[in-house]
Amino acid sequence: MIGAGWVGLVTAACFADLGHDVVVRDIVPERVADLQAGRVPIHEPGLPELLAQARDRLRFTLAMADLFAAARVAFVCVGTPPTYSGDADLSAVWHVLDELPDVDERALLVMKSTVPVGTGEKVRAALDARGLAHVGYVSNPEFLAEGTAVRDFQAPDRIVIGAFAESDADRVAALYAPIEAPIVRVDVASAEMIKLASNAFLATRISFINEIANVCEVTGADVEQVARGMGLDHRLGPHFLRAGIGFGGSCFPKDVQALKQLAGNSGYHFQLLNAVIEVNELQKRRVVGKLAKHLGELRGKTIALLGLSFKPNTNDMREASSLVLAARLLAEGATVRGWDPVSLEEAQALMQGVELCETVLTAVTGADAAVVVTEWPELRGLASSEVRAAMRNPLIVDGRNLLDPEEARAAGFTYEGIGRAGNDTPGAVETAEREPAA
Ligand code: UDX
Repeated sequence: MIGAGWVGLVTAACFADLGHDVVVRDIVPERVADLQAGRVPIHEPGLPELLAQARDRLRFTLAMADLFAAARVAFVCVGTPPTYSGDADLSAVWHVLDELPDVDERALLVMKSTVPVGTGEKVRAALDARGLAHVGYVSNPEFLAEGTAVRDFQAPDRIVIGAFAESDADRVAALYAPIEAPIVRVDVASAEMIKLASNAFLATRISFINEIANVCEVTGADVEQVARGMGLDHRLGPHFLRAGIGFGGSCFPKDVQALKQLAGNSGYHFQLLNAVIEVNELQKRRVVGKLAKHLGELRGKTIALLGLSFKPNTNDMREASSLVLAARLLAEGATVRGWDPVSLEEAQALMQGVELCETVLTAVTGADAAVVVTEWPELRGLASSEVRAAMRNPLIVDGRNLLDPEEARAAGFTYEGIGRAGNDTPGAVETAEREPAA
């Protein structure tokens, strides 16, 4: 495994669990030292247990030569972050090629990282030009969602294998042998496109349901009921129809941009993806409008952002909606508090000016509004009498439609969800006489 990030570590642990011997190589000495000492540097459910169980079949190293001394199949799991132009930055991929030691004819490079369509062809040509025509190349994109990555590996919907040679595809398929899932064998470019198109389509569904939610708000429909009714149609399915404050994370924003850019570079204007991106940007900011609707001027108000990671069960804050929200609220002159069960350390570096709190209660004490930014299960009980007593103004803006609106209102809160019927009008709960809690 080349790269011990989210994808590399989960893939390594799961392959070791299947009985393979796995060498994991990373370039960051602290990360390798942590892994050698049994410390897991990311928050991913089930991963620590898997790494511990399969310890005897896993080795961590800094040296590429170590990896190829032991392994014949090398999965490339390096980062491909966006550049300023929106294209994917492939420098880490090219660096891997530069570092390849003398390898024999059984060596096989398998691309797990998400790359633009056409990358496989370029890598193939580069290998050939370097006298490495005997090294095989396969595209085997990952479909691991953070928080459920182990399960997604062990019980995937499909395994996509794009190869230039059938025998290379056979070798990769054999590694997954005990896993029961359809194997989709395609050419390399199609495998690359399957990954980008899948993520772009899921992102499109999210922006679509978010726009439906926004229309629900002005027409009196309830997006939760609408999504349930839509999702029962087998042609639509129930997934990725949760309205909220937009998608974030390390994949969707980057992959949608990358696909749009890839099309643009070839002279095609991908209009739909432009809209998907714009809707997502606006969706994050709508919360500010909802707060202003109830609180008026936000200067001097205290807002508690609850949940800072881009989704629950991860400490990943890449492209998290909390970052945009915090920056907008600070710019409005509000005091911003932040709480998260696992990503306070990450938030420290990224959320300057935000008061980070260890507990939900500390975050909401004296606050004028509490915003559910990430649907952590810990927040299900947010509409409690304890929280109501602690807040200066009992307003909950539920950016993930996590709470039951009726229960929240019955507990004395003003409740505002996303696209839900009966969003409260300003001043629905009389708060003028309430004193801030000590
Ligand atoms: C995603 C893909 O699901 C995975 O297959 C791919 O390999 C990597 O990218 P991930 O980014 O970990 O995984 O999270 P995912 O669960 O897909 O959610 C992405 C974002 O969309 C999150 O911010 C989430 O809150 C948001 N989302 C998801 C919604 O707003 N509504 C939904 O209905 C689903």
